[in-house]
Amino acid sequence: MCGIVGYLGNRKAYPIIINGLKRLEYRGYDSAGLVVMEDDGFGLVKTKGKVSELEEKSKFLNNGSTLGVGHTRWATHGEPNDVNSHPHLSNDEQIVLVHNGIIENYDSLKTELIQKGFVFHSETDTEVLVNLIQYFKDKENLNLTEAVRYSLNEVVGAYAIAVMDKNDPDEIVVARLGSPLVIGIGDNEFFIASDASPFLEFTKEAFYLDDGEMATIRRDKDIDIRKIKDNLKVTHTVQELKINLEEIEKSGYEHFMLKEIYEQPKSIRDTMRGRLLVDEGIIKMAGIWDYQEKFLNAKRIIIVACGTSYHAGLIGEYLIEDLARIPVEVEYASEFRYRNPIINRKDVVIAISQSGETADTLAALKLAREKGAFIYGINNVVGSSIARITDAGSYTHAGPEIGVASTKAFTAQLTILSLIAIKLGKHNGNLSKERFNSLISELDNIPELVQKTLENTAEKVIEISEKYKNATNALYLGRGYNFPSALEGALKLKEISYIHAEGYPAAEMKHGPIALIDENMPVVIIAPRTGYYEKVVSNAMEIKARKGQIIAVVNTGDTELSKIADHVIEIPNSSEEFSPILAAIPLQLLSYYIAVKLGRNVDQPRNLAKSVTVE
Ligand code: F6R
Repeated sequence: MCGIVGYLGNRKAYPIIINGLKRLEYRGYDSAGLVVMEDDGFGLVKTKGKVSELEEKSKFLNNGSTLGVGHTRWATHGEPNDVNSHPHLSNDEQIVLVHNGIIENYDSLKTELIQKGFVFHSETDTEVLVNLIQYFKDKENLNLTEAVRYSLNEVVGAYAIAVMDKNDPDEIVVARLGSPLVIGIGDNEFFIASDASPFLEFTKEAFYLDDGEMATIRRDKDIDIRKIKDNLKVTHTVQELKINLEEIEKSGYEHFMLKEIYEQPKSIRDTMRGRLLVDEGIIKMAGIWDYQEKFLNAKRIIIVACGTSYHAGLIGEYLIEDLARIPVEVEYASEFRYRNPIINRKDVVIAISQSGETADTLAALKLAREKGAFIYGINNVVGSSIARITDAGSYTHAGPEIGVASTKAFTAQLTILSLIAIKLGKHNGNLSKERFNSLISELDNIPELVQKTLENTAEKVIEISEKYKNATNALYLGRGYNFPSALEGALKLKEISYIHAEGYPAAEMKHGPIALIDENMPVVIIAPRTGYYEKVVSNAMEIKARKGQIIAVVNTGDTELSKIADHVIEIPNSSEEFSPILAAIPLQLLSYYIAVKLGRNVDQPRNLAKSVTVE
């Protein structure tokens, strides 16, 4: 939700900011703006629309300025327009600020500031903060750092901010609470950003600011980091980032989403690397092993997550209950955090999140911790907020996921959940040695099967996407492990093609959704061979009897459902436990190609953002 970037050093700031904003655009893309410090003050341009539009309008700022900040927005307070775009200026035009997050008490602060004579031009919460800073600066005769600290102590909400003072061409002040902020350190130069992608070609040395911290970055000086609350000095160790530039580029693919779909054999392999040691017959996961007592004595495991990560959690429930016989509950993080849930010290709470920044998931986890549960994270982004507050966790190692629709992160999450379930099942004696060995060798072969699925299904999926691209509704059905696959398939279609779609357990169809079926309704049925395959075939017959169009995702060599279906997509045979990983591939491709054929902006679908750092 909004991306911020800033530079202070000896290079031109403008190109670094523009290119940085392009890389952060996945975080929000309804408007953008930037400010560079010029000899005679701020050079500021902001606009509704994408970073490319900002670039068009701001080219004249590509001067010698070596200090500046930029912002790409996902609107919260106030519609996307030029005025509401960031950066925001204080009334005296001396202070400029960019902000990612929400100031929850902005309304009462705004009322007080209006009473003191401040005037507001935008509908944003951010303009309140910049004026509060001016207010404290003037009233208490403070420098910028102190004024920012005073102001943030008045604020309730979440933020990552970068602030500049017109009278000081050598300083940026930054702060964070609940929204990410990383500081890159070069040779006498500093970069700030919501994630490290804007500065990877310049430096890999960086550190993440912690919640409740602020930093004053001055030209040719050490960074001064303080706790916002009590001004206590803090030090951070600079770390070497492991991400490469190639990982955040499209590498010849038309869209990041397609690249990420095709990366899955690798991302799943990377996620298993060093963990699944088939020759030694072990699964090595320090996060589970070091805390095995917590897991093995857990009364239950609660999984909290949102969106696609929630769907991975639902599959995790099947895996862990089936293989390790530990009770699992899966909850939308946004509901869990507000319903006064019963959590015990013997509960393990697992948060699944690609970004590791999702506000609801983070809050659910904090609540679980307060109530004494052991908290575990499954995250993709190294150093993210969730990863840093958990007691232990496992990174998915899928590499940066830039397309807004989650693909490779989902299958990597399923890989980690499979590893956890199999490992726990072995340690608590639910899996025999033979079953354990057979599951791990099968899992080890999944990247090859994913590769085959990509090779064997793409053409068929393109053909089907042509036929159904003008559908206005679609149903996705599945049972058991593949009921969440149906939910995920429907979500993928909705979010990037804007076609309404619903996922349902196949047997539930007759309790309502069957009323929707007619000759115009495509129904995607995910039905690999499992114990209840025959039941799904009966459900398919019911659809056919009502003239629904069936797209069947079945195992290679399927005969029964294939006879009834209008279109058949074959995925390789596997144990049911791993079938959602294989089924995900054609479903991702189907939504991708339909969206492309409809001319949608696949990587940046309307109204969405990659990292949802607001409630
Ligand atoms: C769907 C999608 C979203 C995210 C959700 C949670 O394709 O990307 O539904 O899955 O916003 O995000 P994370 O996993 O970052 O917590």
